[in-house]
Amino acid sequence: MASRPPWVATAEGTAAAFLGFFRDRGHHVLPGESLVRPPDDPVLFTTSGMHPLTPYLTGRPHPLGVRLADVQRCLRTTDLDEVGDDNHLTAFQMLGSWSLGDYGGERSLLWGYDLLVDGYGIAPGRLHATVFGGDGQVGEDVVALRTWERLGVPVERTTGDNWWSNGPTGPCGPDSEIFVWTGDGPPTGSPASDPRWWEVWNHVTMRYRRHEDGSLTELSRGSVDTGMGLERLVTVLEGVRSVYDSEVFADWRRLLPSGWTDGETSWRIVADHLRSAVVLVGDGVRPAAGGQGYVLRRLLRRALTLLWRVDPGRSLDGLPLPLVTGTLRRFGLPEQGCERVAEVLPAEERRFAVLLERGRRVLRQPRFARPPTEEDYAYLHDTHGLPRDLVDQLRREGGAPGEVPGTGRRSAGDPR
Ligand code: ALA
Repeated sequence: MASRPPWVATAEGTAAAFLGFFRDRGHHVLPGESLVRPPDDPVLFTTSGMHPLTPYLTGRPHPLGVRLADVQRCLRTTDLDEVGDDNHLTAFQMLGSWSLGDYGGERSLLWGYDLLVDGYGIAPGRLHATVFGGDGQVGEDVVALRTWERLGVPVERTTGDNWWSNGPTGPCGPDSEIFVWTGDGPPTGSPASDPRWWEVWNHVTMRYRRHEDGSLTELSRGSVDTGMGLERLVTVLEGVRSVYDSEVFADWRRLLPSGWTDGETSWRIVADHLRSAVVLVGDGVRPAAGGQGYVLRRLLRRALTLLWRVDPGRSLDGLPLPLVTGTLRRFGLPEQGCERVAEVLPAEERRFAVLLERGRRVLRQPRFARPPTEEDYAYLHDTHGLPRDLVDQLRREGGAPGEVPGTGRRSAGDPR
């Protein structure tokens, strides 16, 4: 990618090029929305660009027209186990474009190809596509298949993978996924057989609504919903190995020393989780025993557990300010949020330290030398405030049942 134009050298430039491309094609650019979904949404966080637009994808007219585009901050807890690999993140930015009953899937794919190849300069030979191959209810996506064949992009039909919905009910439909080859040599195999094919852009033809009983009905007006992970795209354009080696994480690489963790995977998890925590706090989330706040708590505790494995005295008080302000800015959040981050993260750290000490003390009791029963878990939770996952974590760390690591943590007093 030596010939990459300078305006795509950063995430900001890459996003601006995306929005400019769609603006030139009649799309109104929306501001991104909060990560936090309102209480009546069954899903806690905004998980994709279309999520806040759900009513408009099922028929309500959008006040700004039928062609829309934006950059939306998203958070997915479904990918948590994969965080630490080359291309999964908990909080990320999604570039999205929509046709609300206007143009169809073919137009969307043709524009997608143009932007990737002519706009971002990705060689056509590095592209591969998949399309919905049909199932008992819906036939194969002939339009997408023919479009790719005409463009000369290798295409495969799949069934399970190429269907997109944002939950068990609501708008859904067949999707066509665009992959880019990230290996060193010429492309080999296919996305199904070689992980060096990275999925970058998903074009969904939203033609159906799924109901509570699992049945599908056709929407009165079909729409197109596309989403492309900004961090992945920047990584592909830079030609680096992982999202953590891209410009997106340059400050983290510089300011979160590798010596704070016990290896690259731990470093990636810590960077991802702290970055996600900053975004969540910036969007107003506070650590809590349930809901969105519990996700924030889990992210912070996992990051702290990894940091304390190397240095039990490491404190989030020491998180360099540019990491906080830079993250807030990248995610479109006001930088004043850094004051809240500076309060919330260390307070949660102190709370966790106290809880760990208490947990270690309680689990040393002889009755916990064997695996806990359901009754034990309830007792540990109700009497000592120890959640199940923390009990399990302490037992795992301790090696032998009942034996837990030494209390190297400084005591910080119960913040509650
Ligand atoms: N909503 C689709 C996705 O998130 C585009 O993949």
